[in-house]
Amino acid sequence: MREPLAGLVVSALRVRPKGDRVRRATLAALGFIFVEALVGAALVKFRLVVSDDSAARACVMSFHLANTFFLLGSLALAAWWAGGGARVRLRGQGNTPLLFGIALVGALFVAATGAVTALGDTLFPARTLAEGLRQDLSTTHFLLKLRTLHPAIALTVGCYAVMLASYTANFVRASRALRRTSSLLACVFGAQVIVGVLNITLLAPVALQLTHLFVADLFWIALVLTTASALADDATAETRDAEQPSLQPAVEQT
Ligand code: HEM
Repeated sequence: MREPLAGLVVSALRVRPKGDRVRRATLAALGFIFVEALVGAALVKFRLVVSDDSAARACVMSFHLANTFFLLGSLALAAWWAGGGARVRLRGQGNTPLLFGIALVGALFVAATGAVTALGDTLFPARTLAEGLRQDLSTTHFLLKLRTLHPAIALTVGCYAVMLASYTANFVRASRALRRTSSLLACVFGAQVIVGVLNITLLAPVALQLTHLFVADLFWIALVLTTASALADDATAETRDAEQPSLQPAVEQT
């Protein structure tokens, strides 16, 4: 990923003026990829690998995944803005920034608990669903105790994010971009719940683990773009919407 990213950074620096948001998002992605490499190196250097079941490993894995999400988020925003997406404005948007901020932090927390769940599944594999449940209920190991939390936290945060996005798209600001991204978010969340349930019932085979991780990335990207559309600068959004004759009449903008 480093060579294409280097190309992206060079193009953004050459083509975009100083202070431009595409340029800033691309530079942020560059920073996150360096952190990604450092975290990978730390895992090896401090031997947080193979059968290590320490809290330090769980923390570093969670941080690793959060940093991957930041990397993906900055790349998604760079692409979004390079394609004409409106600038994000926080002031004068009521409590919308706070509500979406909670959804973003919640999604990071879901990913962190997912990383801990995956670590628990790797270190303490169960041969049957009943054995897995027995492990979760009878154990004192923190990794197995935390394993049960991830689905509950994911369902709570996912429902909150989908309802917030749908409410904002229907009642707060009418923009085509927001309607599209919020529908995408709902579809991706629905798919993720199905893959998550299959993961539990089929005891997380590698193909399903990878699918769940991929859909988690899609969920995060959809949430970042939904947030960017919900907080789009009004003037830019109105101009763009005015150019779309097929749109429904806009609900009052905040
Ligand atoms: C928005 C919803 C969700 C997100 C963003 C999410 C995210 C994640 C992530 C990032 C992982 C770690 C994957 C890895 O590192 O290999 C994970 C693992 C896992 N998740 Fe979720 N998840 C969500 C919903 C669910 C739901 C609803 C369930 C169950 C009903 C579930 C069950 C699991 C299980 C069993 C694992 C461990 C799989 C393994 O061993 O690799 N997830 N999740």
